[in-house]
Order: sequence, then C-alpha cells, then structure tokens
Amino acid sequence: MTDDLLLEVDQLQIELMTANGVIRAVDGVSFRIARGETVTIIGESGSGKSTTAMGVLQLLPRDLAVVSGTVRVTGLDVLGDPRAIEAVRGRTVALIPQDPMTALSPVRTVGSQLGEAIRIAGAASGRAAVTARAVRLLEQVHIPDPRAQLRKFPHQLSGGMLQRVLIAVALACEPQLIVADEPTSALDVTVQAGILDLLLELQEQRGIGLLMITHDLGVARLVSDRIHVMKAGVFVESGDVRQIVDHPVEDYTRRLLAAVPTLGAWDETPAAPAVPAAPAAPAAPADREETARA
Ligand SMILES: Nc1ncnc2c1ncn2[C@@H]1O[C@H](COP(=O)(O)OP(=O)(O)OP(=O)(O)O)[C@@H](O)[C@H]1O
Ligand SMILES: [Mg+2]
Repeated sequence: MTDDLLLEVDQLQIELMTANGVIRAVDGVSFRIARGETVTIIGESGSGKSTTAMGVLQLLPRDLAVVSGTVRVTGLDVLGDPRAIEAVRGRTVALIPQDPMTALSPVRTVGSQLGEAIRIAGAASGRAAVTARAVRLLEQVHIPDPRAQLRKFPHQLSGGMLQRVLIAVALACEPQLIVADEPTSALDVTVQAGILDLLLELQEQRGIGLLMITHDLGVARLVSDRIHVMKAGVFVESGDVRQIVDHPVEDYTRRLLAAVPTLGAWDETPAAPAVPAAPAAPAAPADREETARA
C-alpha cells in the first residue's frame, strides 16, 4: 500500500437477505482509488452499484447484509474491525447521497443541519464559529448570499442549490475521500453540469479521491479517471476512461454508451460535436441553475 491509496477494495462480496431469499448483490469486485482520482462505477439499475458503495461504508444493516472481502480506507481495514469504520466515516470519508430533495430534514433550517455536521466533525464549536464555518462552506460550493441561505428551509431552495448544500455537509469533515451515489441524477442536465464542475474543482483544489456511482456514461466520461462497468454484481469491464468510452469491449458497455450522451457538448473531445454547448462558461453556476429550473 502506498500513502496515496485512499481506498482499496478486494473481492468484495455482499449477500442480502430478502423476502425472496438470499441475493448475492455484489459478487467479488476489486478496485482502488488514490488521492485526487475519480473512479466511477457505472451500470444499469439493480446491478449492485449502491450496494457496493453502502458496503464499503458499512451502511448496510448488519442483520440483513453479509459483507466479505477486504476494504481498506487509508490503510485501515474497515471490514475486519467494526470500530475502524466509525473512525473514518464522516471524517476521512464522506457520502453525498442520491436525492437532495429527501436527504435533508424538511423541518430544520439549512443552517441548523449544516451546523450539526460541522459540530460532529469537530471542525468548530460555539455559535459564532460554527456559523462562520457554515458560511465559508457555502461559499466554497458557490452558493450566493450564504448567510441568508442558512436561515432557509430545504423546500425554499432549488434542487441544484440543495445538492450544493449536501456537498457542503460532506465537506464539513474535510474528507479525503467522497463517495457520491448518483449525485446529479435527480437534477436537470444544466444543473448536473454545474454540480459536476464543482466536484471536479474541489477535487483539484484538495486532492480528494472520488468514488462516483452513476448509470450515465455521459457523467462518467466527464469526471472519471477509471471506470468499472457493473452488471449483476460483477465488473464486466474495467479500464481508464478513454479505453471504456472509445473502445468498449462489452456489448453491455456499448448499450450504456448509446443510451445517454446527455452531457456530450460539455466534453472537449471531438467525438461529440453535435450540439453547441449551452451557456458556455460556468462563471455563475448559481444563476444558471435558477434559470434552468425556471
Ligand atoms: N433492501 C433491499 N431488499 C431487497 N433487495 C435489494 C435491496 N437493496 C438492493 N436489493 C437488490 O440488490 C441488487 C443490487 O441493487 P442496488 O441498489 O445496489 O443496484 P444499483 O446498481 O444501485 O441500482 P440503481 O441504479 O437502481 O440505483 C438488486 O438486485 C436489488 O434488487
Ligand atoms: Mg443505486
């Protein structure tokens, strides 16, 4: 193991106890993520992507899921030692959940929920310090007028703004690794692009490792260093982004490629010249998002 390896997953296998018997949702997958890298797991619905992510983070209910294999987060064996995951989850590694509309409590303000994450992370204590840190986090995710947003309730923000808040919540613990389970699939295409830009910017600034889960090869193509293509619990094809996008070996991967070229115009490769890029420079992502939802 080198110091730069944030995540090492070897022969991860996950069996779920369901009403219809035992399902082997993940059947021996292996991958690694180093500092500053984005590794994407892509696959159709039900292929086991979320189960893999939840298994890595040990978020599956212990009585319903049997997880085996090896998972190391910054060298710590989190399957072997149940206390190890408590030490890294919400500290070294953070999750960006799938649906921004339901991930936050509707009855508490953005400020109260972000503040709680900051306190749990131990990043600040005392009201003024927590508020100052919350403002700084919202600035980092390019939310305009952060102080005003802190007083708002989730339903008063757009989907794109809420997803930015969730990214700020994840950043509260200054993670080295972020697991993002379909972080943009609930959002409009234009808003998606702004969120992906933001994740890449944060990654570039801080060298964060990113495990991206998506069913959209357009998203995978934009953000990934390496891609693992998942089907029925196994990786059917793995490689660097160019190899998977330009020379897919499996028919299954070709079908994923054919399905969703939604973000093609944002890609600088000549392979996607069809549509002129929408609003080109991502200078004011906030405005663009609000316009996109209007
Ligand atoms: N709580 C559950 N109870 C029963 N089966 C489940 C449960 N969660 C997942 N599964 C099964 O495990 C397999 C993998 O599901 P998983 O949610 O990991 O897929 P996914 O690739 O994330 O799909 P999606 O793109 O729809 O999010 C599927 O066969 C699914 O039916
Ligand atoms: Mg899923």
